[in-house]
Amino acid sequence: MADNPYEKMNIQWFPGHMTKAQRMIEENLKLVDAVCEILDARIPRSSRNPDIDRLAGDKPRLVILNRIDLADPAVTARWRRTFEDKGLAILETDAKSGKGVKDFAPAVRRLLKDKLAEFEAKGQVGRPLRVMILGIPNVGKSTFINKVAGRKAAIAGDKPGVTRGKQWINIDRGLDLLDTPGILWPKFDSQEVGEMLAITNAIKADVLDKETLGANFMLRLREYYPQALTERYKFSPDPDMNGFELLEEAAKKRGFLVSRGEYDIERMANTLLGEYHDGKLGRLSLEQPDDGSLDTGK
Ligand code: G4P
Repeated sequence: MADNPYEKMNIQWFPGHMTKAQRMIEENLKLVDAVCEILDARIPRSSRNPDIDRLAGDKPRLVILNRIDLADPAVTARWRRTFEDKGLAILETDAKSGKGVKDFAPAVRRLLKDKLAEFEAKGQVGRPLRVMILGIPNVGKSTFINKVAGRKAAIAGDKPGVTRGKQWINIDRGLDLLDTPGILWPKFDSQEVGEMLAITNAIKADVLDKETLGANFMLRLREYYPQALTERYKFSPDPDMNGFELLEEAAKKRGFLVSRGEYDIERMANTLLGEYHDGKLGRLSLEQPDDGSLDTGK
């Protein structure tokens, strides 16, 4: 196999978003007591703002690994330890079902116990704790906030890249959340980050070539979860095949025939991405804590 079997893609980024996100974080930081980053548990590295450590300054921070229902539990446990080792508070949630969400308010109070003591000493009884919620589009911010609030407080929807205005959400028991616009902020120069975001639906896969995305995803699955391919698509991935050949192999098994001996790999790429999105391939994480740096600055 070649050193780098992954195909290069031409990714259309959205210039300006990064700066906009930074400005928004900086401007609103003075209004909050803590910063809560919601990450996709399947891609904690790619779904993270690479500048968050610098931007958040010394505000106490809570990391939420969301979508644990779709992530590999063993890998999520390793991510949890990695973040804890860096001194960050961490919660694991499935915002869709609400699993883990009830621990949020107690976790914030634990994180800000010194602040609460300070309020009490100053006689500021009833002053709510204010937390900025950060997360890339489609990571589950609205769903999470709705669950925490126990009512429909934020607007949920599957619209990658849609920007909303910031809003305060008052939660019972002395907690206010600052919901921030869903702005895309990850590293603009990394193809891998782009692919991870497209595979997990944070950015529209239409900005990428679907077949190449599917082919590269196949290679990743062969490397980390070959049994998922065997179970779902009924073939053992050949170590010498490239990503397109793996797609073709799966297309054959699915009977996606176009004409004499020719298979529809674009349809197969769409099927693969769709089935991953729906959790039909199983609980698969796409990033491991030790396959790249995690600079938390702590
Ligand atoms: P955002 O505010 O960060 O942009 O995200 P939002 O809450 O709108 O959530 C985006 C999609 O992700 C929603 O799906 C939501 O149901 C889903 N989601 C959020 N948290 C979780 C989770 O922990 N697990 C799972 N499995 N899904 C989660 P949708 O747009 O209604 O459709 P679909 O993605 O479910 O098909």
